[in-house]
Amino acid sequence: MQIEQESIYALLGNNGAGKSTLLRLMVGLLKPKSGTIKIFGKTLTRNRKQLWKIRQQIGFLFQNPDDQLFAPTIAEDVAFGARNLKLPEEEVQKRTEWALKAVNLLHYKNESPFNLSWGQKKRAALAGLLVLKPKLLILDEPFANLDFQSIHNHIKIIETLRTQEKMTILFTTHHLFFVEKWAQKVFILKDGKKFYEGDAIKGLSNPKIKNLLGSYEQIEELFQSFKKSSPP
Ligand SMILES: Nc1ncnc2c1ncn2[C@@H]1O[C@H](COP(=O)(O)OP(=O)(O)OP(=O)(O)O)[C@@H](O)[C@H]1O
Ligand SMILES: [Mg+2]
Repeated sequence: MQIEQESIYALLGNNGAGKSTLLRLMVGLLKPKSGTIKIFGKTLTRNRKQLWKIRQQIGFLFQNPDDQLFAPTIAEDVAFGARNLKLPEEEVQKRTEWALKAVNLLHYKNESPFNLSWGQKKRAALAGLLVLKPKLLILDEPFANLDFQSIHNHIKIIETLRTQEKMTILFTTHHLFFVEKWAQKVFILKDGKKFYEGDAIKGLSNPKIKNLLGSYEQIEELFQSFKKSSPP
């Protein structure tokens, strides 16, 4: 699989297909048993210095925000990445304030991340990536469990940053709507192997792929059959 700069990719597949595992491999959180991973043109090794340098250029949103948030307050959590980049403190504060405002959490900045709801945690975790202005943004289920207003805000802010900073985006989702609207290219995994790679719209119109992922019509049909079935 190859990712070109400044494009938006969707990584798709059923539960357990290997999406999150592949993303973890890409940032060196897991070691591949075979094959190689090249990132920004360099082969990924276990060298700590290299990993450190690469991770400074990648924003990685974990599927579960509880794996991501750790600081005593939301503001400190968001500022952490920017401080790691050794930016001047004034710039750290500026970016933190901007990112918290962008995800609509500024009023919670002194709260503990653990007091937030799931959706708010996801928004706080995203703010922590935005401050990095990364070259590559990897988003594992960025829209799961978010309300429509949050999804709308997130897409708007990510899109603005993407065009300004010329970012590349790779995201996973189970909502084909986002794939149709946002992704230029898709990768589809099945049982840990690549099943399809190519144009998003063409891929989603392929009956084999529709069958694997479940089209809107199939979901509608499934829903209707639940309504019809009477309780035991
Ligand atoms: N280090 C590992 N080595 C080998 N297999 C692993 C490793 N970590 C996880 N797996 C397995 O890989 C499979 C894929 O899990 P993964 O979380 O990547 O799926 P996913 O496509 O992200 O699913 P979901 O849509 O539910 O998030 C699981 O069966 C998991 O047990
Ligand atoms: Mg996953």
